[in-house]
Amino acid sequence: MIKMKSSQISGFYKLSPRERLNIVKEFAGLSDEEAELIYSMSGLKLDLANRMIENVIGGITIPLGIAVNFLINNKDYLIPMALEEPSVVAAASNAARMARVKGGFFATTTEPLMIGQIQVVDVKDPYNARMKILAAKDEILAKANEQDKLLVSLGGGAKDLNVKVINTFTGKMVIVELIVDCKDAMGANIVNTMAEAVAPIIERLTNGKVLLRIVSNLATLRLARARAIFDKDTIGGEEVVDGIIQAYSFAESDPYRCATHNKGIMNGIVAVGIATGQDIRALEAGAHSYAALKGSYKPLTTWEKNENGDLVGTIELPLAVGLIGGATAVHPIAKICIKILGVKTAKELAEVMASVGLAQNFAALRALVTEGIQRGHMKLHARNIAIMAGATGDLIDLVAQRMVEERKIKMDRALELIREFKEGKN
Ligand code: MEV
Repeated sequence: MIKMKSSQISGFYKLSPRERLNIVKEFAGLSDEEAELIYSMSGLKLDLANRMIENVIGGITIPLGIAVNFLINNKDYLIPMALEEPSVVAAASNAARMARVKGGFFATTTEPLMIGQIQVVDVKDPYNARMKILAAKDEILAKANEQDKLLVSLGGGAKDLNVKVINTFTGKMVIVELIVDCKDAMGANIVNTMAEAVAPIIERLTNGKVLLRIVSNLATLRLARARAIFDKDTIGGEEVVDGIIQAYSFAESDPYRCATHNKGIMNGIVAVGIATGQDIRALEAGAHSYAALKGSYKPLTTWEKNENGDLVGTIELPLAVGLIGGATAVHPIAKICIKILGVKTAKELAEVMASVGLAQNFAALRALVTEGIQRGHMKLHARNIAIMAGATGDLIDLVAQRMVEERKIKMDRALELIREFKEGKN
């Protein structure tokens, strides 16, 4: 059924969780302990949780699924996704299967540059102050880089400085922006430390008062991009291609639709983010503010038709993700999810996440322009009802399918159908 080290696995959804885990274990080279930790659903112990946040009383567990079929930059990936919403993992796997026909996803990233902002108020001569700060760039960057010698030794650290004067309703302000190469860290801690460290220099130079010293989540210098071609015949023909382009046009022109369009993209990105211990609030803030950067709120993806009539999708968004520091480094399940993904750098993780976002958007639009979104949800719901009513083995799908066809997904109908199938009446 599977080609070794290929993520292309048909019928993965039909297997039991244990059988699926065994495939993932083999694919990613997980140890017995790692596999059991995932399976036990108790990966985070109380003492560790108690050190991660404040006022801890326990934990909450959400399902961890695996999206299959992903081929990104010619490499096969099994994608761990943690979320509570049905259909998302299936949709991503399905989209990835279709993308494979034309080579899968091709993704790139910019360097992992984050922006740290230092707000200076009460400056009498803001434009003069701006010049003085720019002239002291070497001193400021040196001070920033003293804060993280390890990062600097790895080729990262504070690289550049922007200074702008902005008009606000409390008057003009000088905003200093430190540009920091965070390498494999998400970088918020590093950037905040650096911004705090250079603040006294800025106050001295400006005779103003430094107020905020904080990372910007609008990480426009840390972009991830992906593209994929979807073969028109594979996805259902010309009508589906045109439908998806029209659905995209709707989002492009209407913020009410665009919010949902982008939400679908973030379904995938956030699920991988949770599985790998990322700061998903930062990812959401970055994505939506980037979508609004041109002055009105726009889709994070584009959809068009190429000369063969195939559908071409692209995505571009800031993805501040890391492999070192934060929950990624301490949460045992997040560490195993990184191992399953097999990503070696934060840039590679961002490339995977951008591809998942594009796949998710494709799947949502395709469903919306064809059968609608409810059918997939209903199928899963019907299976759950069938299982709760006592169906096992092949009977689960038989009962579920019948309830979906009849649009009667109810416990009493499931019980009736089980009885009828068992008595051979169906
Ligand atoms: C549901 O979680 C996501 C969708 O609404 C996205 C979309 O409408 O594009 C299906």
